[in-house]
This record gives sequence, structure tokens and C-alpha cells, in this order.
Amino acid sequence: MRLHSVEYEIKGAVALVTLDEPAKLNALSVGIREGLTEALTTADDDPQVRVVVITGAGERAFCAGADISGFEFSTVYAKNFMNEVIDVLAAPENISKPVIAAVNGLALGGGCEIAIACDFVIASEQAQFGVPEIKLGLLPGFAIVRLNALVGRQMAKYLTMLGEPISAHEAHELGLVLRIVPHDQLLQRAFELAEKLANQPQMAIRYAKEIFNRELGGSDINYAKSVMPFLFLDDDAREGVAAFREKREPRF
Ligand code: COA
Repeated sequence: MRLHSVEYEIKGAVALVTLDEPAKLNALSVGIREGLTEALTTADDDPQVRVVVITGAGERAFCAGADISGFEFSTVYAKNFMNEVIDVLAAPENISKPVIAAVNGLALGGGCEIAIACDFVIASEQAQFGVPEIKLGLLPGFAIVRLNALVGRQMAKYLTMLGEPISAHEAHELGLVLRIVPHDQLLQRAFELAEKLANQPQMAIRYAKEIFNRELGGSDINYAKSVMPFLFLDDDAREGVAAFREKREPRF
């Protein structure tokens, strides 16, 4: 079934959610954002579904992050954007069932954030992870809160302040990725894990997720939501976004 720009399929007890705008590297357009939110809510409400797998369409990208083509430089836009986008990025954390990211290629910015919001990350050996927002004069609102706990403060700062992507192997060493698999076996291997989870006692699985995730959300994310719009008002953000649109290097 098509949900905006997302394909939603049920395979046994597993819902497969495919971000599907490959020409734009599955960047988080309105269609992808609405489709992903709807897909996760649908899966959570469907008693037949026990596990969700999220992947990206096409050979190159899982998701290249926020849709830069839609950025506007006003306080109202920036505030609404942060509120809405962070809720989409956090959605895998907030549903009651386990979510697996099957990362088939670039997972940048919001794409990396969706992956780390999932309970498990299975990566193709072609996958790359990164939070390049600094190159736009911006910051990754969700990852900047979550990365500390996942990779430690120094590495979180390094990834955020340099904005350079890392390979699947580096991400695995850092603990961002559970398992690296050959590219052509990605979905099969993600489904193997999904099916194992689906065969476990479901109340115990859901309580485990709830208890492990109990300290996520809350005031840290609200802080990020409230400060990020200021970045949109800075000249460096205008320059960074203009440089992306003009396909040139920014000058900060
Ligand atoms: N938002 C909107 N469009 C995006 C996008 C994004 N985040 N990432 C890629 N695209 C679009 C490009 O504009 C291009 O569209 P076009 O063919 O109409 O020009 C298309 O996807 C292919 O990307 P392109 O940049 O031509 O491919 P590349 O191989 O030269 O570079 C990336 C790939 C991922 C390095 C580059 O696209 C990039 O840096 N993307 C932005 C990543 C980012 O900063 N994400 C965080 C956003 S806050």
C-alpha cells in the first residue's frame, strides 16, 4: 500500500516500510515525513504486525536527511519545522513494537537520526552514516541529543562538528550498527532478525523496549527543539543552504 511517498507492505508478522523518493535520495520531503509517520502508526495499531523494518528505495540512499529544497528562513517556519521533524525522527522510539533500520546506503542527517532512533540497525556494507548539518550552518537537532549516549561525548562532538560521513564499518565499531551484511542480503538479514523478534513473547518485548527507552525524550529534546530555530536566522545557514542549492562549497 502507498502511504504518501512511502511503500508499506505486510510480510507475515513484519511491516516493511520503504522510503521511496530515490531521485532525491529519499530526503525527508513532506511525502516521506507523512508516509513514515502514518506507516509507523498503522503498524503499531495493527495486531498482526509484531516488528517493523524501515529501508530506503534505490541503490544509493537510505535517507539523505531533511529536504533542503524546502528550507525557508523565517522564525515561524523554523519553529514549525523543528517541532514536526523531530517528532518524525523520534517516531521509531515512540511506537511500542521493535523497529529495525535496514540501512541500504547513505544515512545522512535525518536519515542517520531515523536509523539511531530504531531499536536495531542492520547496515549494508555500502552504508554510510553522518550528520552533515554543520556544512549548512545548522545542527542535527535529534542526533545532538542522542549521540552522546550512543558513541560518547567526544565522538558525538567529532561527528557533529566535522559533519563528515563514516563507513558502515566505522559505525559498527562505534556501536551505531548492530551488524554489517553483504548489500544484496540486507533485507533478508533484517527479516531474519525481525522474525526472531516476532517469535518472542510480545508483552516482554514491548516492556523491554519501553524500559530501555524510558529516559529518552523529555526535556533534552525540548531544549533542542527550542534552540535550533535560532540557527536558521544566522547568515551561515543562508550561505550553507545557498551553497548546497548552487552545488558549490560554502564560505562561512
Ligand atoms: N534535501 C533535498 N534534496 C536532496 C538532499 C536533501 N537532503 N540530498 C540530496 N538531494 C537531491 C539533490 O539536490 C539532487 O537533486 P537534483 O538531481 O534535482 O539536483 C539529488 O538529490 C541527488 O543528489 P546529488 O547532490 O546530486 O548527489 P551527489 O552524489 O553529488 O551527493 C550527497 C550526494 C548526499 C553527498 C549530497 O546530496 C548531499 O550532501 N546531500 C545533503 C545531505 C545533508 O546535508 N543532509 C542533512 C540535511 S539538514
